[in-house]
Amino acid sequence: MVRETHLSVKDFIAPLFVKPGHGTRDPIPSMPEQYQFSVDTLLMEVRELSNLGIPAVIFFGLPDHKDPLGSRSWAEDGIVQQAISEVKSAVPDMVVITDLCFCEYTDHGHCGAIKDGDVDNDATLELLARQALSHAKAGVDLVAPSDMMDGRVATIRKALDEEGYHRIGILSYAVKYASAFYGPFRDAADSAPQFGDRSSYQMDPANALEALRETELDLAEGADMIMVKPALPYLDIISRVREICPVPLAAYNVSGEYAMVKAAELNGWMDGKRVMMESLTSIKRAGADLILTYFAKDAARLLAGT
Ligand code: PBG
Repeated sequence: MVRETHLSVKDFIAPLFVKPGHGTRDPIPSMPEQYQFSVDTLLMEVRELSNLGIPAVIFFGLPDHKDPLGSRSWAEDGIVQQAISEVKSAVPDMVVITDLCFCEYTDHGHCGAIKDGDVDNDATLELLARQALSHAKAGVDLVAPSDMMDGRVATIRKALDEEGYHRIGILSYAVKYASAFYGPFRDAADSAPQFGDRSSYQMDPANALEALRETELDLAEGADMIMVKPALPYLDIISRVREICPVPLAAYNVSGEYAMVKAAELNGWMDGKRVMMESLTSIKRAGADLILTYFAKDAARLLAGT
């Protein structure tokens, strides 16, 4: 009766990895109970998530081929494009979000085009617009740019509007730190940078005021929702962004946060289920409306008492 924070299955967005093939459900070693799916098995997974009441999924694609620009990311027959159209026609009520980025698609593993040994912000914008349009054409509900290039929200909004996709929203990874907590994800998505790191475009973990600036810029450019990432080491950031953010706020409970809990649970060192619920509740208490989490299915089952 006096509890202040309520976790609901409607808060969850489930991240899913999709790759070419048939009947594929390859376990991700550093993320127990998470898989790389082919489109057919992905569909089964989405149906299950939908039956549990989970309202949204976010897709990450593993392409059949990588090149310097990441051109498979905007291909009409690309893996994410296929996944969007299959899932939207089979489970239309499921909100389909796509991660808009290049690190899974480039042979160098960086989140944009390279010039003179570093990521070229402005050259990447045009490619991002292309990727967003290809997802729009496939039927996506929201695109979520995660590359951290300046000006991408405005560029994507303009490109979508010009092609008549006014109704597709933008969930901006506005506040994304250059974090070691993404380690397991880079195994899962085969997206580790081949040289250097992402600190020229992602944020310094020591900065908080910059998070407010990034949020304000993305709101001014037309973001419909804002995301803070990672979640648990940045609860203070979630709570500060909440105060200036008049749109839905999402937080990404990332791969490393998931892997730590699973590893400790498998060793018998912590009660994994309780740590999961405490973590998700804390993220919500800090001010997030929505939580992207690999725990979505486990937590939904627990909330439903099944
Ligand atoms: C793509 C992207 C990353 C994650 C989401 N989108 C990796 C990165 O920036 O290196 C990480 C998600 C996770 O760790 O669960 N840029």
